[in-house]
Amino acid sequence: MLPDTVLDDGRVEELRTARALLRNWADDDLQPFAEMCADPLVMAHFPAPLSRAESHATVARVRAHFVEHGYGLWAVEIDGGFAGWTGLSWSEVTGTRELEIGWRLARAYWGRGLATEAAGTALAYGLQQVSRIVSFSAVTNERLWRVMERIGMRREREFAHPREDLPERLRRQVLYVADRQTCRPHSVFAEPAQRPARGSSPGATRRVQGAQPMDG
Ligand SMILES: CC(C)(COP(=O)(O)OP(=O)(O)OC[C@H]1O[C@@H](n2cnc3c(N)ncnc32)[C@H](O)[C@@H]1OP(=O)(O)O)[C@@H](O)C(=O)NCCC(=O)NCCS
Repeated sequence: MLPDTVLDDGRVEELRTARALLRNWADDDLQPFAEMCADPLVMAHFPAPLSRAESHATVARVRAHFVEHGYGLWAVEIDGGFAGWTGLSWSEVTGTRELEIGWRLARAYWGRGLATEAAGTALAYGLQQVSRIVSFSAVTNERLWRVMERIGMRREREFAHPREDLPERLRRQVLYVADRQTCRPHSVFAEPAQRPARGSSPGATRRVQGAQPMDG
């Protein structure tokens, strides 16, 4: 089991890469998240774009995951703006309860290596805690495979998504895995900083600093 990564005072651990901050969700993220999830291109490999209500409900679930586990799908902030999400969530889609890594960025942030950079850091974080992490998507989502391969995951198998109401184009899924023994996520993730003494710096947030920019 993952240790409790909520800090002693209840704050969520944040991760920092060369260009991105993976942080807890803020109410101001709701609007740009809803806009991202209404974009048909971003949602091309999902059943449909999300309505505003569906998008808000998704964020509520993500926040509940943080409350329960202390980690989750972090909000990704780039240059002070909300760019999307990446991170970890428990899933049973493969038939086993496994920790899944996922990512979704607004279109303006594609093509810059940001998903790879942020997800590589989340993967390294996760593999410090559990020995196996999975990711999956419709077999047609080639852009996604490339991220999975760049962060060091390997293709394991194809499987049928258990949701029978999914459109045919999404039923066939490809599963990628990363395991602690063989996966070496790129080194944008440093060892966690020393936990600050409780109450030593009020208002400060513990952050994990990336060691170096990604290189590909
Ligand atoms: C999946 C997703 C996050 C990938 O975004 P992406 O921009 O393709 O991925 P990256 O951020 O890793 O960027 C890689 C691209 O940036 C380019 N790039 C530019 N600068 C780079 C750098 N410094 N480092 C690495 N790549 C860089 C790469 O060449 C690559 O381009 P290519 O795909 O044309 O070869 C994005 O497509 C998305 O949000 N899709 C919708 C949501 C989705 O399907 N999520 C998964 C659902 S399960």
